[in-house]
Amino acid sequence: MELCIQDLCVNFSTPSGTIPAVNHVSLTVSSQQVTGIIGETGSGKSVLGLSILGLLQSNAAVSGRILLDGRELTGLSQRELCAVRGREIALVAQNPATSLNPGVRVGRQIEEVFRLAGESRAESRKHTLELLEQLAFSQPERVARAYPFELSGGMCQRALTAIAVAARPRWIIADEPTKGLDAVVRNQVYDTFRMVREHYHVGFLVITHDLLLARKFCDRIVVMYCGRVLETNTARELFEHPRHPYTRGLIASLPHLGMKPMAGFAPAFTDQPAGCVFHPRCPHAREICRREAPGTVYCGEGSVCCHGFD
Ligand SMILES: Nc1ncnc2c1ncn2[C@@H]1O[C@H](COP(=O)(O)OP(=O)(O)OP(=O)(O)O)[C@@H](O)[C@H]1O
Ligand code: SF4
Ligand SMILES: [Mg+2]
Repeated sequence: MELCIQDLCVNFSTPSGTIPAVNHVSLTVSSQQVTGIIGETGSGKSVLGLSILGLLQSNAAVSGRILLDGRELTGLSQRELCAVRGREIALVAQNPATSLNPGVRVGRQIEEVFRLAGESRAESRKHTLELLEQLAFSQPERVARAYPFELSGGMCQRALTAIAVAARPRWIIADEPTKGLDAVVRNQVYDTFRMVREHYHVGFLVITHDLLLARKFCDRIVVMYCGRVLETNTARELFEHPRHPYTRGLIASLPHLGMKPMAGFAPAFTDQPAGCVFHPRCPHAREICRREAPGTVYCGEGSVCCHGFD
């Protein structure tokens, strides 16, 4: 199973100008592999994920193609997309606390997914408790009875994962699944995902700032900056031999690798530099970098968008 994104552009029209949040992105993602999308805040990761599900706000203009196993998603009506969402591709959204319905018990929210698939109330209740147990909740009954505010951030995250899994999707897009969680809970989320992956064989697209999660859980990594893909590779190769100066900067800022913050800030989308979009921050920038946008060079299992440097 394959998710293929071809020359995708997402432009938001705003009073202060057009925001090219996703800028000519092409990617092929296999469900056999867990793919991580990393990059600083505002680099277009969530917009890319939401565009796959057709969940962008109305000020978005989308061009390019998104193909799920050869079937074009970009031209589908909202009704057709509703059939894709949840059942084929499920979203574990960026903020679990606001994605769960605060006024409905967690168990009932999971049961609703089983009910939509035609199960009786008793069956859906049984399957909900089984699923909660499988996702490592030690007291499934208690969790099912709880309202979201009664659960910790990590538990809400896993409850949201249970809702996604209950629909038996072929893909899960998880947006910042470890945001705001401490190291221990982050590891629990990681274990939950690994279990879901092994048990349900779903394809995972993980959008994350958490480079340690990306390194541990993902097979492939896509690095985004200013709406563009700057580098892709296998997770091992990317973390051991990053090619793009931006990827190198991200990795050097990891606490156990020196915690060296990258110089400068990403430019505003309404005021992007000419040439290579990373040149104002790049320690290797040359004249050509300021003048010409680099093309993407494919090498081995990866790709890099850079003029190159010694
Ligand atoms: N509806 C919208 N209208 C205008 N701009 C938008 C809209 N939605 C997103 N953007 C802008 O698109 C850019 C990319 O946003 P996106 O949420 O994809 O970033 P991100 O990489 O997910 O960041 P983070 O890591 O902080 O979640 C941002 O500048 C954001 O402000
Ligand atoms: S193209 Fe030039 S400025 Fe851009 S990342 Fe490569 S070396 Fe740096
Ligand atoms: Mg985001």
